[in-house]
Amino acid sequence: MNIADQKIAVAEAALAWIEPHLHHDLVLGIGTGSTADHFIDLLAPHRARFGGAVASSGRSADRLARLGVQVYDLNTVPELPFYVDGADEINARLEMTKGGGGALTREKIVAAASKIFVCIVDGSKRVATLGRFPLAIEVIPMARAQVIRALTSLGAEERIGAPDIALRTGPDGAAFVTDNGNCIVDVSGWSIAEPRRLEARIGAIVGVVESGLFALRPADVLLLAGPDGVETF
Ligand code: 5RP
Repeated sequence: MNIADQKIAVAEAALAWIEPHLHHDLVLGIGTGSTADHFIDLLAPHRARFGGAVASSGRSADRLARLGVQVYDLNTVPELPFYVDGADEINARLEMTKGGGGALTREKIVAAASKIFVCIVDGSKRVATLGRFPLAIEVIPMARAQVIRALTSLGAEERIGAPDIALRTGPDGAAFVTDNGNCIVDVSGWSIAEPRRLEARIGAIVGVVESGLFALRPADVLLLAGPDGVETF
């Protein structure tokens, strides 16, 4: 299977994993990205078998609603037993980087609210050390320059490499704007040996909303596609 087929295969595996848990009162947490999109498309025909979903982005909320799945505001939902989402990278401890689609803050909120985080990825996402994929960090726009300076110092202090930091732009060349009205800086060039420590340190920088490091709250289950099929960890 190539990568595109692996994304579909892992979404099918996620549906098979979640099906035994479906019941009328169940509200599912649903993530963002091309793999999550496949999962939404496969899940939607089963919409009568569960209560609905909380989405981690406007994009996923729109897709779910278009396919007839009831979308809830997280504030109105007493519990989220499961959250199904992709990742940009995942290591053996099921720590991840996320935010390639720009939805990292809402993804982190929904993940924090969920009991079981089921991460669904194609084989290209499995890494020994996080940091190969640029690390997304959502930033309050007025703090952008000072956050970039603080991240540069942090890289030196933590001895994880000199970062190459870029403000994310959209297809029109303008600064990308998150669902929360903020900007994203992408940090390349770090070898993240201690993800929990780095997540805490980045989170302490004033002006940072969230980082795309998901180490303090890692995934609980990993469905990992490869050329020959999907494995569960
Ligand atoms: C979006 C994310 C996605 O989960 C991540 O970018 C993976 O995307 P894809 O499934 O398209 O490879 O974190 O913010």
